Amino acid sequence: MSVAQPPFHRVAVIGLGLIGGSLASAIRKQGLAEVVVGFDARRDELSLGVELGVIDLAADSVEGAVAGCDLVVLAVPVRATRQVLSDIKPVLEEGVILSDVGSTKSSFVADIEAVFGELPSWVIPGHPIAGSEKSGIRAAQAELFANHKVILTPANNANQGGVARLKTLWEGTGATVLTMSAAYHDEVLAATSHLPHLIAFSLVDTLAGEDENMDIFRYAAGGFRDFTRIAASDPVMWHDIFLSNREAVLRGIDHFTEDLGRLRCAIANGDGAELLRVFSRAKAARDHFSKMLSGQAYVTTNIDNQVTFHMQPGGAVNGDIRVPGDKSMSHRSIMLGALAEGTTEVKGFLEGEDSLATLQAFRDMGVTIEGPEEGFVRIHGVGMNGLQAPRGQLYLGNSGTAMRLFAGLLAAQKFDSELSGDASLSKRPMGRVADPLRAMGAVIETADGGRPPLKIRGGHELTGIHYEMPVASAQVKSCLLLAGLYAEGVTSVTEPAPTRDHTERMLEGFGYHVHRDGATASVTGGGKLTACSIDVPADISSAAFFLVAASIAEGSDLTLRHVGMNPTRVGVINILKQMGANIEVMNESVIGGEPVADLRVRSAALRGIEIPEEQVPLAIDEFPVLFIAAVCAEGRTVLRGAEELRVKESDRIQVMADGLANLGVETTVTSDGIIIDGGQEIGSGTVESYGDHRISMSFAVASLRATGAIRINDCANVATSFPGFVELALKTGIRINAEGND
Ligand code: S3P
Repeated sequence: MSVAQPPFHRVAVIGLGLIGGSLASAIRKQGLAEVVVGFDARRDELSLGVELGVIDLAADSVEGAVAGCDLVVLAVPVRATRQVLSDIKPVLEEGVILSDVGSTKSSFVADIEAVFGELPSWVIPGHPIAGSEKSGIRAAQAELFANHKVILTPANNANQGGVARLKTLWEGTGATVLTMSAAYHDEVLAATSHLPHLIAFSLVDTLAGEDENMDIFRYAAGGFRDFTRIAASDPVMWHDIFLSNREAVLRGIDHFTEDLGRLRCAIANGDGAELLRVFSRAKAARDHFSKMLSGQAYVTTNIDNQVTFHMQPGGAVNGDIRVPGDKSMSHRSIMLGALAEGTTEVKGFLEGEDSLATLQAFRDMGVTIEGPEEGFVRIHGVGMNGLQAPRGQLYLGNSGTAMRLFAGLLAAQKFDSELSGDASLSKRPMGRVADPLRAMGAVIETADGGRPPLKIRGGHELTGIHYEMPVASAQVKSCLLLAGLYAEGVTSVTEPAPTRDHTERMLEGFGYHVHRDGATASVTGGGKLTACSIDVPADISSAAFFLVAASIAEGSDLTLRHVGMNPTRVGVINILKQMGANIEVMNESVIGGEPVADLRVRSAALRGIEIPEEQVPLAIDEFPVLFIAAVCAEGRTVLRGAEELRVKESDRIQVMADGLANLGVETTVTSDGIIIDGGQEIGSGTVESYGDHRISMSFAVASLRATGAIRINDCANVATSFPGFVELALKTGIRINAEGND
């Protein structure tokens, strides 16, 4: 890639080692400046620089290199920095940007301040996170930074134009640029780079000092080689780094030594549970390493992974399938399993990002969880009071359920906690749980408008309350019942309309009695949970896409296996049946306290209806796809009393109306619902899903009756509730192609 307008005219690179040489090469190769001048006190390296084509010009002195340049990059050893800065100070020209490539940033800032008396706005420290075990200009390569990160640490007063130009330069080398403060950079690097290098150097040195060292190295397996690769790095450079990032590295060493000591104890005491706990938590962290680092996701998505669905029109839906496990039950199985005494085994667990966020959060609180593997999870319960304080924030991704239920559980713990989520979750209302929890004695802070993050103070005793819920929400009800397990006395919740009752049923399954009296559920605090086995049925909310798909596509005949048929969840079937759908319920049974059945659905001529308001909470997640059914029906469908849809993963009323409008379908949006006149043609076009999984999948279903191709943007979050959706949809006959999700 060469840039149209190079960000700099004349660049001086001082120090032509691996990093300086590679940067000079990349600037030349990618046309990121008109001239690259090099200087190195080692004369042979300098002339090699010209010979190898790394630089345009070799300067005789460091002052000569810098004169007339609009960018100067120091790539000299840390200990030489101060001297070089003093040498170049008199010849730096007006408008210059000065940067560096050093591995520690606070020490560079200290050198700058020592020489210039301040940190001038035109100094922008930098650190490319790239390297190799080879050193010297011969090892320089223009591609060294491609697909690597470069951290810039501009101070608050930094020249923003200069930061932007330096960013363009580094991006031109193929790197991704991040910015942070110098102090934070040093803290992060101490933990993620400096400490591992120290351990690698130390381990190899220890083994090399053993009497049988030759033998040890001869038999050393791949693990040793992998682990100690970085001990072959440049000793002089690393000696500089440890001395210049002393404080942060010492903190890292102390933390690590403490944890290593704990593992030593566990081995000495034969404490297998502790070992399993640490190893399984570490394995999960390593498996999802890059995603966890970016704080984004657990399975397949991250911010850079934009997934687009390309739909071809038409098709019929046929076959015999099982959709993934129920999301609500999957969350609850981990929560109750973690707090139970004994080992809980879960089958059919949903390996979607939302429920994995819950699972990871419990690992972060010290619970040993094996799996998930093919839907099987084994949770080593720690008992009601066995959770440990997490080290950092609990990141809950896109999951409103996780955040609201956690709020209840964590309000009663001895330790503080902080709950955060992605951009969508960060906009959702949490006052609905924070307010009643405060009435129970909890201390919770929210961001403006009752939004996440939630900061929960531990160590506050809770007292049971009676709460009349203003909205019909299973999440609020469950949150309060979970808090009620810890509260003094009775906690009771009355709902304005029936909502899903998985918490109540599963608590009973774990041996905790929930008293139910009409619309009120109550628990008495102070009891305990006993581990059990859980068989999670297929999620009716995921099945709903196929129920509508097979209903609207001519020539369809599809069987869905083992679908959860809890009466508080079957609104979608009631509504579709009322619209004339042909759904046969077969093989009904009750498994672990939850009804399940197989569903056979065939194409049918649907008709519009006034959706009964009492069905709204029972089909709350299925409305996006029910709107598609309404478009394909004969006559008018009217939805009222569904304002809750506006505060789901997106404003599902508006977002569906906008998407339909893009496909040529007119609807009338009301404050609490929508009016859809059926029989309109679904045209081709582009639809924005705003990262809402259910919007993405609903428009995928719409393509079955469209007259042209549909493009659906921002579909990565389908993985939150329905991993494998694309493959399963294709298998049944939906003409879907997903771009960007490998
Ligand atoms: C859920 C409850 C519902 C639902 C969500 C899952 C649960 O939310 O929309 O997808 O697992 O309790 P509300 O309780 O906010 O309606």
